[in-house]
Amino acid sequence: MIIFACMKEFDINIRIKVKQEDELSAMESILLDKARQATYRSYSPYSRFSVGAAVELEDGSIVAGSNQENAAYPSGLCAERTCMFYANSRYPDSPIRRLCIAARNTDGNFTLRPVAPCGACRQALLEAEQRAGKDIEILLYGTECIYCVDSVHALLPLCFDGSFLE
Ligand code: THU
Repeated sequence: MIIFACMKEFDINIRIKVKQEDELSAMESILLDKARQATYRSYSPYSRFSVGAAVELEDGSIVAGSNQENAAYPSGLCAERTCMFYANSRYPDSPIRRLCIAARNTDGNFTLRPVAPCGACRQALLEAEQRAGKDIEILLYGTECIYCVDSVHALLPLCFDGSFLE
């Protein structure tokens, strides 16, 4: 871990690769399709924002999930965590290699902008990444373009993690 305590100011940059669908690898395209399909299994009567997530595991398995809402709003769960928690409970020994997220708006169309995971999902995904000791590649889908980020920690700079509790 790098500590910048002696610096007056510093920047943290993240690299985002911007791709079109035809630039994805075969596996990335499959994952994107799974994430898009998962939006149709979303239970989101309150927000009407249907999110789908799909993860590819080290053993090649693919697991998908969608957001699941509840009348008591905080009791619902985002697609990313639904998907990741299911993957980890179904395949506890197979770390997540890649995650793709897609979302459809209230009009039923996929978002133009690449959809970004919420802070709580980033936090939960970070722990999965750290636990496995291997970066999770993230694909954020939008109809205009797809953002590809190399890791969860890139999406969550200055994170709180278990190392503070040691
Ligand atoms: N949502 C997700 O599933 N993932 C995110 O990262 C952002 C938000 C869901 C939660 C809620 O069901 C709906 O989108 C509107 O916030």
